[in-house]
Amino acid sequence: MATLLQSQGAQHAAILGVGSYRPARVVPNSEVVDAIDSSDEWIQQRSGIKTRRWAGPEESVQMMAVAAARKALDRAGIDPRQIDTVVVATVSHMLQTPAVATAIAHELGTDQAAAFDISAACAGFCHGVSMAADFVRAGSAGHVLVIGVERLTDILDLHDRGTAFIFADGAGAAVVGPSDTPGIGPVVWGSDGEQFDLIRQREDWRDVVASGDPVMPHLVMQGNPVFRWASFAMAKIGQQALDRAGVSIDELDVFVPHQANMRIIDAMARSMKLPPRVKIARDIAEMGNTSAASIPLALDRMIDEGEARSGDTALLVAFGAGLAYAAQVVTVP
Ligand code: UT7
Repeated sequence: MATLLQSQGAQHAAILGVGSYRPARVVPNSEVVDAIDSSDEWIQQRSGIKTRRWAGPEESVQMMAVAAARKALDRAGIDPRQIDTVVVATVSHMLQTPAVATAIAHELGTDQAAAFDISAACAGFCHGVSMAADFVRAGSAGHVLVIGVERLTDILDLHDRGTAFIFADGAGAAVVGPSDTPGIGPVVWGSDGEQFDLIRQREDWRDVVASGDPVMPHLVMQGNPVFRWASFAMAKIGQQALDRAGVSIDELDVFVPHQANMRIIDAMARSMKLPPRVKIARDIAEMGNTSAASIPLALDRMIDEGEARSGDTALLVAFGAGLAYAAQVVTVP
């Protein structure tokens, strides 16, 4: 039996740069309330959302992803040809195959990087960051581009009271590469498939076709059980990610949870007893819930606005359909 040579990676991995893309069109609550018999007051009270961004015809999944990636590459000082792996977390690329990652890798000008999509819904970006850190350390990749991108308006039923006011569009990206010091802590991730149906594409594509009346199988959500699950269970996952990284609450500077609902963000911060000193991402108010894009969008905004500074210690906690979750501590680039 032959002894197989093994690849050797970098000792440590870190996020080297972050970027994001916000669609141009700002949509206030007043534009969505009539179709769902709701009000600005109800939406703000229950979710904290004031506005969201909806992509225009030119703002495709690929276009938004490339724009976010270019900013992340620029910030990292990395040429696209140095990227040898592109991981795209999305549930709103409208082709079952091929992966949009290959088109993105090509448009960016990578040298035929390995490129594939992952499906972990709102937890997708943190799954991607964990994979990227492992690739870099194992030697499977030198530099990895991780992108979270969604154009959820393509799969939204604007008359559905449970989803129309929440979900939105956008993209965020991070370049992960070798580092002298550890910049990405161990991931805490998992899933609860018993709750598979709580957030899902309404029907299987085959059932849609068989119905003889093809209607987009929209995204549907049983919001309240998800709300309760996220508010209670996700603070524990965040704490576990801190523990696994050996970081105390006192050492934490920034908290970037998935931007699903302002009340969930507040509940998590309360249960983790985050001191007022810790800066908390609250991009949900302006951006709504952009699923896989929400964490890099929120982190990039905090960096742009000086709330998160280079070298800060940040906790990322992502959760969503599946139900799937992933959390890790990272150093802000
Ligand atoms: O990103 C993936 C993970 N997703 C999440 O984490 C989302 C989690 N869920 C949520 O954010 C919340 O469940 C929602 C914001 C979606 C809803 O808030 P809620 O506090 O859970 O509301 P609810 O569904 O329990 O409904 C409360 C009331 C009901 O009326 P009654 O029975 O109390 O009279 C609903 O009929 O609000 C009513 N309602 C609405 N009223 C105005 C439900 N939807 C609406 C609406 N506008 N859009």
